[in-house]
Amino acid sequence: MAESTSPDRVIEARGVTKEYPYQGDALHALRGVSLSVARGEMVAIVGPSGCGKSSLLNVLAGIDPPTSGRVELLGTGLYDLGEGQRSLLRLRRLGFIFQRFHLLAVLTAAENVELPMAEAGVPKAERRRRARELLDYVGLASRARHRPPHLSGGEQQRVAIARAVANRPEVLFADEPTGELDRRTGEEIIALFERLNADGTTMVIVTHDPGVARRARRVVEMADGLVVSDGR
Ligand SMILES: Nc1ncnc2c1ncn2[C@@H]1O[C@H](COP(=O)(O)OP(=O)(O)O)[C@@H](O)[C@H]1O
Ligand SMILES: [Mg+2]
Repeated sequence: MAESTSPDRVIEARGVTKEYPYQGDALHALRGVSLSVARGEMVAIVGPSGCGKSSLLNVLAGIDPPTSGRVELLGTGLYDLGEGQRSLLRLRRLGFIFQRFHLLAVLTAAENVELPMAEAGVPKAERRRRARELLDYVGLASRARHRPPHLSGGEQQRVAIARAVANRPEVLFADEPTGELDRRTGEEIIALFERLNADGTTMVIVTHDPGVARRARRVVEMADGLVVSDGR
């Protein structure tokens, strides 16, 4: 895979549009978004429901291709890659956190955290050791053997964060990560994000939560498929 050496710009999106088929017509979710994110930044993306935040995040994270436009991620043209190579890049270098956690209910917390390491070919003993270390990092060492249905929402999100950073991603994406949590639990999740950012992870967070936006040093505001302000 063509990888450049430590680019200062980890995300460089130019003229990104996204259309979804809708009743025989096209719904224009993104109408030409350009955005640069430098290594080490913590960026909040805000805006009203339906303005295209999730669509943008999915395009930037390699989950869903844009209709037109270009996305350079870590120096690589994200959609120049085939799907297999893009999946590998996501597995090894990116992390993604969802509003509803997306944990596997039949696996324990530790097994959920081990999953992306198993996919990346990390040996079992190393996986176990690192899963313990990660659950400790997110304050859940004592919950390692619990299954998600027996954990609170905040605990489940912390497991999801431990899983998302298992392969030491350079960029972490989160879509409304505190949307299902009460304020105090949300605050704990934000504190964890700040710690990850301080440890060098670039963060791009879609949020409705003014508490999250306040603590990002940069707030990108969207409306109707466009970036309408970008305050550093
Ligand atoms: N998979 C999809 N198919 C059709 N329309 C979609 C799809 N995903 C999102 N949309 C539409 O695109 C627009 C932007 O949605 P979204 O990116 O989810 O916004 P936000 O995350 O800001 O709420 C909305 O009008 C939404 O209904
Ligand atoms: Mg959304």
